[in-house]
Amino acid sequence: MTDMITIRRPDDWHVHLRDGDMLKAVAGYTARQFARAIVMPNLTPPVTTMEAASAYRDRILAALPEGADFTPLMTCYLTDGADPAEIARGHAEGVFTACKLYPAHATTNSAHGVTDIRKLTGVLETMQRIGMPLLIHGEVTDRHVDIFDREAVFIDTILAPLVRDYPALRIVLEHITTAEAAAFVEESGPQIAATITPQHLVINRNAIFDGGIRPHAYCLPVAKREKHRLAVRRAAVSGSPKFFLGTDSAPHAIDRKETACGCAGIFNAPYAIESYAQVFEEDGVLDRLEGFASEHGPRFYGLPLNEGTITLERVDTVVPDRIGDGALALVPFHAGETVRWQFVD
Ligand code: DOR
Ligand code: ZN
Repeated sequence: MTDMITIRRPDDWHVHLRDGDMLKAVAGYTARQFARAIVMPNLTPPVTTMEAASAYRDRILAALPEGADFTPLMTCYLTDGADPAEIARGHAEGVFTACKLYPAHATTNSAHGVTDIRKLTGVLETMQRIGMPLLIHGEVTDRHVDIFDREAVFIDTILAPLVRDYPALRIVLEHITTAEAAAFVEESGPQIAATITPQHLVINRNAIFDGGIRPHAYCLPVAKREKHRLAVRRAAVSGSPKFFLGTDSAPHAIDRKETACGCAGIFNAPYAIESYAQVFEEDGVLDRLEGFASEHGPRFYGLPLNEGTITLERVDTVVPDRIGDGALALVPFHAGETVRWQFVD
């Protein structure tokens, strides 16, 4: 039995690092495991300009622990009024790695998101031309659509036409949760990929209602039925280069989670790589972890693979109930459970 695994240093292709004190509290967990991360722009106000993205990148770098070796890759939050010229300039100057499309009101801090994809025609034409990836929160926001169907309906009504109309546009369907999403990505051309979170590989929707309402299992897109978890998991462990690691680690203070209208988001950064390793091991394909965590993402983004390595040891590790103190205390994913791997360095 393998007791240690060493893989090329991974990247996180979707993370929420927040800002201010919360940024300082969480950045080290991501930087410890991952060499780079695609940082979500859903701050208040959202990151919509090169100036805001550069300033946010500086705040992230300043928040890292001494000696951290970590590169934040910044994204531009798309609004109805997004400016193609600013986006193209930001991409050319290395400030924006990608653009993020939040349908308006789909999730946390998405009130400034896009109300109608047709408003983005100029932006999408530009992104297609310059090869800049579009990262999509793929859920419709129509309250008449059942929350468990919002991803599948988005694929049928928005994503499929988008892929048809912009055949060369590079798209990452973020945090996929359904069999429909896994199949759509698998069947599309090489310009379409998806990120997969630890939680969507591990929990189904029962976890949200397990003996009572469980706010720390609530994120968006919400976990679906077991058959969807299994389909997403098959995609992750398949070895297909279209699927790669994106934690969607999304910290919210405990009082914002444990309340009558709790925020969506699971803080999984502290034990992310351990959680993924456990999934790949359970499915008998630990040898495919490196592709998913460290190779498929950079290849899709056209970036070099990382040079360094990380090592995980097979040691049962109890995940604490809480991480951090006071107003910055957070409940991590897997709280109180045992994960079977430990990140050693
Ligand atoms: O659960 C989520 N939390 N999903 C998102 O799309 C946003 C994120 C957040 O920012 O908290
Ligand atoms: Zn997210």
